[in-house]
Amino acid sequence: MKILAIETSCDETAISILEGKGNSKNPSFKILSNIVSSQVKIHAKWGGVVPNLAKREHQRNLVPVIKKALKESSLLKIQNFPPRADPSLAEKLKNLGIILERELELFKKLIPFLNKHKKPKIDLIAVTNGPGLEPALWVGINFAKALAIFWNKPIMGINHMEGHLFSAFLRENFQTPIFKPQFPAVALLVSGGHTELILVKNWLKYEPLGQTRDDAAGEAFDKVAKMLGLGYPGGPIVSKLAQQYRDVRRHDIVELPRPMINSQNYDFSFSGLKTAVLYFVKTLSKEKIKELTPAICAEFQQATIDVLVQKTIRASKEHKAKTIIVGGGVIANKTLREKLTQESSKNGFSIALPEIKFTGDNAAMIGLAAFMREKIKRKKNLDITEKNLKANGNLKLA
Ligand code: KG4
Ligand code: ZN
Repeated sequence: MKILAIETSCDETAISILEGKGNSKNPSFKILSNIVSSQVKIHAKWGGVVPNLAKREHQRNLVPVIKKALKESSLLKIQNFPPRADPSLAEKLKNLGIILERELELFKKLIPFLNKHKKPKIDLIAVTNGPGLEPALWVGINFAKALAIFWNKPIMGINHMEGHLFSAFLRENFQTPIFKPQFPAVALLVSGGHTELILVKNWLKYEPLGQTRDDAAGEAFDKVAKMLGLGYPGGPIVSKLAQQYRDVRRHDIVELPRPMINSQNYDFSFSGLKTAVLYFVKTLSKEKIKELTPAICAEFQQATIDVLVQKTIRASKEHKAKTIIVGGGVIANKTLREKLTQESSKNGFSIALPEIKFTGDNAAMIGLAAFMREKIKRKKNLDITEKNLKANGNLKLA
C-alpha cells in the first residue's frame, strides 16, 4: 500500500510518500519521497513562529511540495487530454470550494494541479491533526480532505507526537522486519512545543507518565538563544556554542539549577531554568554577556540534558522498560544523544533514536504512524475514513 502523508502543524510544509508491505507482525516499508519545505527564514525575523504567517506559507507551499513528492515517487502523471468525462466533476469542484473557502490561495493553486494530473496510485491519505498551531493544522487537514474527495481516497488523522515517536524507526529502504522494539518501552518526546514521558505498552498503546508544566525543552533552547541574541531557532546554535566551549575543555563558570530533577514524578519544568539564565544575564555588561555566552550555552544545555536523562532512566527502571524510544527536534542534540545512549546501555535498556535527518518535523514519520495504525486497526475492521477530521491544537496521545 502507498500512503501520502501531510504535515503542517508548525513551520515546515512536509509531504512524504511511503510504501508499506507485510502484516502487523512483520511490517516493512520504504520512503518513496520525503519533501520538507522549511519556513524557518520567514519566522526567524519575528524571533519565533507566527501562526498566521505559517498558515499563509503552507497555502503557498502545499501544491509545489505535493508535486515534488509525487514526482520523486514516480507517481506524477499528466492527465490525458481531453480528460475522461467525469459526471461528478462539477459536484466535486463545488465541494472543494466549500472545504477550502478559508484557504483561497491554496484553492487557486490546487484546481489547476488536479485538472492537469491523473489520480495518483495511492491508497491512503494521512494528515497531522494535532497537537500544533491550529491555523497551520487546518491548512493541511483541509488540503487532505480536498484530495480525499477529489481522488476518492480514505483519510486518516495522525497525532504529531505519535509521528515523532515513530521517527525513531524511520529508515530509507525496505527492511524486513523493519523494527522489533521490545515492550514495554518508555518514550521521551522532546520538541519545540512538547516534553513528555510516555509508557508504550505495545504499538499504539500509550500511558502518559509526565510532561512539562511550563516550557518545552526546545522552547527553552529557543528562549535562551533569544536572550543571548543568537536568533531563531535556538537549539542548533546553542548546542554548537556549547560544543565548542566543551571542546576546549573550559571549566564551569556558570551554575544553573536542574529543575525537578529529584521530584518523585515524571513532570518537567524548564521555565525556571530559562529565568535563571535571564537573571544571570541581567547582572552582566554587554561585553561580559558576549564573553560568557558559550559558557552559558554549555551549562544551560547540560542542565537540560541532566534532567531529561535522569528522569527518562528512572521512568524506564520503574516501569521495567526494555526499550527507550526518543523523538522530537531536540534529539538532534548530539550531547543529549550521547548521554542517553550511554545511560541506556549502562542500565541495560536498548535505545531507538531517529536518524538526525528525521529529528525535525517531517511527513515520513506521519506516514509510518499511519501505516502502523492501518496494519493494526485493519485487523479489527475499524473504519479509517475520517471525513470529519478536525484540528486540535492540544491533541493528546491515545
Ligand atoms: O520537533 P520539532 O522540529 O518541532 C516541533 O514539533 O516543535 O522541534 C523543534 C525544536 C526547536 O525548539 C529547536 O530549537 C529544537 O527543536 N532543536 C534543538 C536542536 N535542534 C533543534 N534543540 C537542542 N539541540 C539541537 N541541536
Ligand atoms: Zn514536531
